[in-house]
Amino acid sequence: MEKFIIRGGNELSGEVEISSAKNAVLPLISACILSSDKCILENAPFLQDVFVLNDVLRSINSSIEIKDNNMVIDTSRINNTEPDGELVRKMRASFLTMGPMMARYGKFKISLPGGCNIGTRPIDLHLKGFSALGADIRIGHGYVEARAKKLIGNKIYLDFPSVGATENIMMAAVLAEGETVLENAAGEPEIQDLARFLNKMGAYIIGAGTDTIKIVGVKELKGIKHRPIPDRIEAGTFMTAAAITRSKIKVNGIIDSHLKPVIAKLTEMGCIIEKDQNSLVIDGRNSLKAVDIKTLPYPGFPTDMQAQIMALMCTVKGTSIFTETIFENRFMHVSELKRMGANIKIDGRCAVIEGVENLMGCRVNATDLRAGAAMILAALAAEGVSEIRDIFHIDRGYYHIERKLMKLGANIERIKKMED
Ligand code: UD1
Repeated sequence: MEKFIIRGGNELSGEVEISSAKNAVLPLISACILSSDKCILENAPFLQDVFVLNDVLRSINSSIEIKDNNMVIDTSRINNTEPDGELVRKMRASFLTMGPMMARYGKFKISLPGGCNIGTRPIDLHLKGFSALGADIRIGHGYVEARAKKLIGNKIYLDFPSVGATENIMMAAVLAEGETVLENAAGEPEIQDLARFLNKMGAYIIGAGTDTIKIVGVKELKGIKHRPIPDRIEAGTFMTAAAITRSKIKVNGIIDSHLKPVIAKLTEMGCIIEKDQNSLVIDGRNSLKAVDIKTLPYPGFPTDMQAQIMALMCTVKGTSIFTETIFENRFMHVSELKRMGANIKIDGRCAVIEGVENLMGCRVNATDLRAGAAMILAALAAEGVSEIRDIFHIDRGYYHIERKLMKLGANIERIKKMED
């Protein structure tokens, strides 16, 4: 087990390059199942979650090669529609293979999700969509199985704008007969990127990014080359690193419109943010003030930035309130932040954060991906030395975060073998 050792207190400076978005790449890899031609994903991020999904595809006989920074995905020899259960249970995003398998082969059998540390996260909305397209769904013995002779377009209303359900239903509908209208759809930039990818393959999708997406089924899709969008959550995490260390840095390779809610809230806290075409400079050297934030579906404030901004709130004078509306159990980082001296009270879905003079370095755990990022941020600002354990969670979604932070001047070290 690896860990990070961080000596807090360094001011950051310089520039950081943002990688391609994990949450864009995962549906794009799955979408490659839809065509028997090869697809190429340029500038793919080499993250643990990406490796797991690649293995899921390999388990149904796809080949994925990494050439330079590109991923070449060949699904022409898929010979079954039951991905390896052990792999599927490692990562919820494995469920994004359901829609494409349904569309191309008219069936799938997949192991049901196990427990998840940020809420129960069911897949009922995904299945409701497949069923509306004509699939017969069976659940039992730890598996969900679906079959359809033919998928036929339909009108589908999502009870909640689920990101994964929107992506899965879009992918299932692209090869269906006739027109599908998906209402109350999620509009995240990653969904817009998936629609762009599918349309380049020959699909007909309009309205991605709005709450109504129309998909007209086509006969087949072809192989393409695509560069995924930059990771807005990684960018937001580095922006927060600047704010929490009261530093000024430049964040390169972004799409600023995807960062609107994060930019708005950091600006409200007192950061000065200057945007350029594909980069921004954030100056957090002013005195910052407390704010209230509620997580919401896009374009609201992203739940994936809640933990990191909460770490920042812990260092800002006054009372901030964070309301989490997307997941019912996403405050696991609170007890770890409290170990570092944070003053936080939880009341249902609200966290009330009273800023403290100083956080104090100590041993903490990364309880999930974004909680782990929050621990790094808190440690960068804390007095003394922090040790962050279970950093495999962080590697799921951040490519060499310690190298990028070291380049900015942080004192962070990855310890390869951990002695207890
Ligand atoms: C995606 C992101 C994740 C992000 C989340 C919310 C990927 C790979 N992951 O996850 O990083 O935190 O969006 O922005 O893109 N729900 C149901 N039934 C369903 C599906 C979802 O009740 O069938 C609920 C979930 O339990 C959760 C909420 O809807 O409370 C949001 O989930 P969803 O938008 O589906 O998130 P994911 O696609 O899993």
